[in-house]
Amino acid sequence: MDKIGINGGKALKGRVKISGAKNAALPIMAATLLASGKFKIHNVPDLRDVKTMAHLLRIIGAQVEFANNSLTIDTSKCNFYEAPYELVKTMRASIYVLAPLLARFLEAKVSLPGGCALGSRPVDLHLKGLEKLGAKIELEKGYIVANAKKLTGASINFDISSVGATGNILMAAVLAQGRTVIGNASHEPEITALAQFLVTMGADIEGIETGRLTVHGVNHLKPVEYTVVPDRIETGTYLMAAAITGGEVELTDTDPKILTSLVSKLRECGVLIEEGDSTLYCKAPNQIKPVSITTAPYPGFPTDLQAQWMTLMCVANGSSMITDTIFVDRFTHVAELRRLGAEIKRNKNSAVVTGTENLNGAPVMSTDLRASASLILAGLRAQGRTDVLRVYHIDRGYEKIEEKLKLLGADIWREEGGL
Ligand code: EPU
Repeated sequence: MDKIGINGGKALKGRVKISGAKNAALPIMAATLLASGKFKIHNVPDLRDVKTMAHLLRIIGAQVEFANNSLTIDTSKCNFYEAPYELVKTMRASIYVLAPLLARFLEAKVSLPGGCALGSRPVDLHLKGLEKLGAKIELEKGYIVANAKKLTGASINFDISSVGATGNILMAAVLAQGRTVIGNASHEPEITALAQFLVTMGADIEGIETGRLTVHGVNHLKPVEYTVVPDRIETGTYLMAAAITGGEVELTDTDPKILTSLVSKLRECGVLIEEGDSTLYCKAPNQIKPVSITTAPYPGFPTDLQAQWMTLMCVANGSSMITDTIFVDRFTHVAELRRLGAEIKRNKNSAVVTGTENLNGAPVMSTDLRASASLILAGLRAQGRTDVLRVYHIDRGYEKIEEKLKLLGADIWREEGGL
């Protein structure tokens, strides 16, 4: 397995282009299964998860080509309505093919995702919602087996706001007969992007960007050309990389409007941030002020930036508290950050971080994508050399991360082999 080596202590300077959003690209790729024909999707990040989803679509029978960040997907010959365990275990977002397969072919078999580094992560809301639309669902030998004679609109109110369940129910509802109302719907920008993609395909959806979606089912959807929105989590990670290294960076091809919670927290820390239409300029202060955060559904502070924020707080001028209300066990980075000299006390779903003058490089590893990003940020700041092992997690969600950081002046490289 590859590892990333970093000689820390260099202030990042320059300009970096933000890629398309992984968590928008994945459900949009799955949604192509809702119509027969040829789609073109642009600004798709070149990531392992995107390749896994492309592989899954091919298994289902789609023709998929990926070049220069554009995907061509031809769904006219799909004939195998199954997502096998071997793929689902490597990428939970495979669950996104469940509803499109059911809505178009009235049958689907998708492996149940197991637990992961973030905790148990059930899919009960996806299944209950599909049952309300008329699907018969059984669990057989680790698989979700779903069938329907037809799907019919219904009123579905989620107990918890779930990105994945909202995406799946939305994809089922657009081809269901009649009206579906989704209450307590997730309105993360990636769900908004999926809804807009579906509307371009011919779906009738009201309430986009709100917590209540009303869908009037249509008989038929058409293939379209579409451009994926910028990745707000990658954007946030680079803002924090600039802040933690005492740097000055401009991010381009992004969308400041979908990152307001992070930007206001960074400003509280003393970071200077200027917003353009599609750019963000960021200049670090001499000293980072400690600022507490609690993760929450959009537009609250994203759980996908919690680990990176913790790294930033490790070198702040005082103590702060970090609470994750979305994934209460998302703390695998704590023990690794401690190896670099961080002072962190975890209690249930919170951690108190006491900033130290500096971190010291060491070998570290993680079993989660965003935790790996937090360790790279720590390595960029730490004195001496840090090796981040099991870097394949990073390749799931950050396009060309070491190339982008190198362009900003970081002393970072990839080494093949190792644990
Ligand atoms: N939940 C349930 N039952 C369900 C579904 C969710 O109890 O049926 C709970 C979860 O356990 C969690 C909460 O609801 O406590 C929210 O989970 P959600 O369903 O919103 O998460 P997800 O759809 O599985 C997506 C992203 C995650 C991101 C979360 C939260 C994708 C592919 N994944 O996951 O991204 O952390 O929303 O914003 O969009 C990442 O990119 O690193 C990542 C983990």
